[in-house]
Amino acid sequence: MCPIFSEALDAYVDAHATPLEPLLQENREETYASLSSPQMIAGPVVGQVLRLLVSLAAPRLVLEIGTFTGYSALAMAGGLPPDGRIVTCELSPERAAFAQGYFDRSPWADRIDVRVGPALDTVEALDGPFDFVFIEPTRTATRVTTRPSSPSSRPAG
Ligand SMILES: C[S@@+](CC[C@H](N)C(=O)[O-])C[C@H]1O[C@@H](n2cnc3c(N)ncnc32)[C@H](O)[C@@H]1O
Repeated sequence: MCPIFSEALDAYVDAHATPLEPLLQENREETYASLSSPQMIAGPVVGQVLRLLVSLAAPRLVLEIGTFTGYSALAMAGGLPPDGRIVTCELSPERAAFAQGYFDRSPWADRIDVRVGPALDTVEALDGPFDFVFIEPTRTATRVTTRPSSPSSRPAG
């Protein structure tokens, strides 16, 4: 995908974005300190935008493909309505365990459900419909969303 801003402007905006909760900052710092490919984590602006979009959409059920260390799920969780929950799929058991540690420490522990394994298999077994879906632009994501037997997202989801 063609970037909207230059890398320099992206870095500037991220550095000056209003931070989310301290737990999310800790998650980011530990991700960079202890995991490989830490740059995969969503930036602070993306976290804020996800929080805003979830707040506006008020979804009862969110699907995320690609938990990584849990930052984006935590960002979305903070915008959920009282009866909202998130199912987040992660291939790597190590990354899922890292994320689960943060979910357990968050105010949203009972609302975030991590499923370990290939998302194609996980999604197949889920009941939809999903009101809000956050996926990374990967071939896996494309295959999940175009698979006829996948649970649907709502028309405006
Ligand atoms: C770019 S990272 C996700 C970043 C995360 N959403 C965030 O914003 O912090 C992509 C993640 O997708 C996971 N992944 C890749 N293929 C997958 C698959 N087939 N099923 C589930 N997770 C997958 C990777 O292990 C990786 O942790």
